[in-house]
Amino acid sequence: MIKRIGILTSGGDCAGLNAVLRAVVLHATSNKGWEVLGLRQGTAGLMARPVEAELLDPYAMSSVLLRQGGTVLGTTNRGDPFAFPMADGHLLDRSEEVIDGYRQLGLDALIGIGGDGSFRILRRLAQQGGLNLVGIPKTIDNDLGLTEISIGHDTAVWIATEALDRLQPTAASHDRVMVLEVMGRDAGHIALSAGIAGGADAILIPEIPYSMERVAQKIDDIKRQGRNFALVIVAEAVTTEHGEPVTVTHVGGKATYGGIGHYVSDRLATLTGAETRVTVLGHLQRGAPPDPRDRVIAQAFGVHAVDLIDAGKFDRMVAWQNRRVIDVPILEAIERYQAVDPDGTLVQTARGLGISFGD
Ligand code: F6P
Repeated sequence: MIKRIGILTSGGDCAGLNAVLRAVVLHATSNKGWEVLGLRQGTAGLMARPVEAELLDPYAMSSVLLRQGGTVLGTTNRGDPFAFPMADGHLLDRSEEVIDGYRQLGLDALIGIGGDGSFRILRRLAQQGGLNLVGIPKTIDNDLGLTEISIGHDTAVWIATEALDRLQPTAASHDRVMVLEVMGRDAGHIALSAGIAGGADAILIPEIPYSMERVAQKIDDIKRQGRNFALVIVAEAVTTEHGEPVTVTHVGGKATYGGIGHYVSDRLATLTGAETRVTVLGHLQRGAPPDPRDRVIAQAFGVHAVDLIDAGKFDRMVAWQNRRVIDVPILEAIERYQAVDPDGTLVQTARGLGISFGD
């Protein structure tokens, strides 16, 4: 019999996390009569002593949370408990401390809101410690398998589209080629959707190898047809023409993608003679208030996750398929990585519109 559940957000934040939290608390407390504990900073809260968790009051779940970006629980995309970086630099397996934290709180089940990296860790913890885990998919990258949409992606696409909307008038005013670099980790979903929605002339994604000469040809064609500006959107994981990824190494040693937009911009300026400028959208894609679709899906996911726990169905991830919420094995969702399908509908749509992939 379920009495108390925990919920945590893990990995990079995105829009819609607080909307999930609110839905879980409202359904679990009002309709099931359970207690919900919010765990701080992903698994770090369960590792801390005393454990960092707070009882979530349904009366505090105002609709402000629906609108609020980020996660009020805090999150982290570092500190794998199976290889936790200690102060002196060595890695320590602290997984048993996390499992013990779950037990100390007297949890009957745990809802983890995460992407593939977080689910790998949470699932391993669940298997090792016999924890009752249910997953809710979130990632702006939309690269988790078996779900058509993960929370946060739609808002990120909206922000990237809005960026193109804002770049177009200034591009037209100055006769420029504007290059917009967007996130997405190894998948090009954000670039592809925003490129179509925002009227890009070229979309570069890691799933479709490109030649810079082809992209330059597209810019030249546009000029010849009498248009004085062009918009190019590039996914952060696109490599240079020589196949090298462009990354930034942050203080502390973590490397993330970043910088391919500058490379594309410089090469296009050289090849076409056009004046180019680059915008790197970065974390603006993550910190926004969720758009209506993300709010709706977040709440549908939250309610279904509670129902799964009530039905005693664990090691499952809620998912969106064919206009409904379903649930799938977490392992399958992780293993079926969802990159852009180069033969899929959206790529065909873009090609039909004359958008260049540089191939
Ligand atoms: O996975 C989400 C994501 O925003 C990626 O699109 C991006 O590459 C990465 O996280 C950035 O990570 P960080 O927040 O550590 O800069």
